[in-house]
Amino acid sequence: MKRLSIFVSGNGTNLQRIAEYFLEDWEVEIVNVVCNNPKAYAIERAKKLQIPVRMIDKEEFNGEAFVKELQSLGIDLIVLAGFLWKIPEALVKAFPKKIVNIHPALLPKYGGKGFYGEHVHEAVVAAREPFSGITIHYVNELYDSGEIIMQAHVALDEKETPDTLAAKIHQLEQAYFPVAIEEVLKAIQ
Ligand code: GRF
Repeated sequence: MKRLSIFVSGNGTNLQRIAEYFLEDWEVEIVNVVCNNPKAYAIERAKKLQIPVRMIDKEEFNGEAFVKELQSLGIDLIVLAGFLWKIPEALVKAFPKKIVNIHPALLPKYGGKGFYGEHVHEAVVAAREPFSGITIHYVNELYDSGEIIMQAHVALDEKETPDTLAAKIHQLEQAYFPVAIEEVLKAIQ
């Protein structure tokens, strides 16, 4: 049995998809959803999915007790599914290659501080990039720069807008994120 903790800050569509994907997989359990935003719709989704929600503030998040809490829960993999805080060094060290993130662009371009949500798609469209996509990667101490696990591409149309691009990226996320997580879990002993 592999035990997941999913960190969220927003809508939670990725959380929903991952939870549904693993619903009938008895080898994978989503132990909790960690949320830093009391207004996140992801909280409602987690409740409906009957997954315990652990709300957290910045001080607690950056403290040692939280690392111990995750360890004592026996978490095998932390999944960042639209989580907007930087992961503290102590947590990265305690979970080496056991934290994965999804980024809605083709890293290393359009990553780093400030590149989140619609800001990413606005920048990609403004630069008239021919392609964008998703990047699923391990998390290190810096934003969006850990080892890449997989990428998927999509072409931009001439009339592409940030909104139409966001919809395309959303489809890629829904298709690939759970599968990538499953592969990462297989590699964890
Ligand atoms: C996704 O686009 C993801 O790539 C990014 O944040 C967004 C989260 O969406 N890191 P949701 O909260 O899962 O709906």
